[in-house]
Amino acid sequence: MRQPLIMGNWKMNGSREEGVQLAKALAEGLESVSQEVAVCVPFVYLSDIRAALGSSGIALGAQNVADQASGAYTGEVSASMLADIGCKYALVGHSERRSYYGDTNQSVAARFCQAMKQNVTPVLCVGETLEERESDKTFQVVDEQLDAVIDAAGIEAFDKAVIAYEPVWAIGTGKTASDEQAQEVHKYIRQRIAERNPAIAEKVQILYGGSVKPDNAKALFAMPDIDGGLVGGASLDAKGFLQICHSV
Ligand code: 13P
Repeated sequence: MRQPLIMGNWKMNGSREEGVQLAKALAEGLESVSQEVAVCVPFVYLSDIRAALGSSGIALGAQNVADQASGAYTGEVSASMLADIGCKYALVGHSERRSYYGDTNQSVAARFCQAMKQNVTPVLCVGETLEERESDKTFQVVDEQLDAVIDAAGIEAFDKAVIAYEPVWAIGTGKTASDEQAQEVHKYIRQRIAERNPAIAEKVQILYGGSVKPDNAKALFAMPDIDGGLVGGASLDAKGFLQICHSV
């Protein structure tokens, strides 16, 4: 039985004060929730948010991690720095990184490996654009994104990693993949992992991301291969995000 995981991705939003207030509201509101919850917050606020989350059990995550261990890489934040300040998770390969900042399958794989080395759990984001979906390339794109990481890190790494399927066309658009569309790709990803290691495939958490909202979360999370969500816009509102957390 896989443990559900709900993760908020605040992206580049809010001030320190707003982040702290949001974290405190989540900490108070989640006392009665048993599944795992995490928030991926801007680097500069990680320590403040960690303090605001206190002993709530809500885990801290970063939105990216460097592809190198240390050294002359101006502007980057290493996995050891994230581990140092209590970060449990780091997103790698979010589609916004891939499309706006040139992250490639190779650099995403390097980031994944750096996180693994420091015991920061990488959350590998994969997903196709609308154009790719419409030209029937969804599985091919997901394969390439997954294979680059499996080749670099080994399938065993997925024993301690999370995968997030985020169709690019559903991110921030209000257009959610239907439950069946999402389930189809989640199942496919799990099968790809199972071809290499069935035990890991059974265990690995695969989150869905892309316009998850309080009113669609329950049906998505009820699908057999969807183990939770990676929530963008709706994670900025405490009430809505708490409702999503309670939908598992
Ligand atoms: P939205 O929930 O705003 O569509 O964003 C999804 C996402 O990109 C989470 O990483």
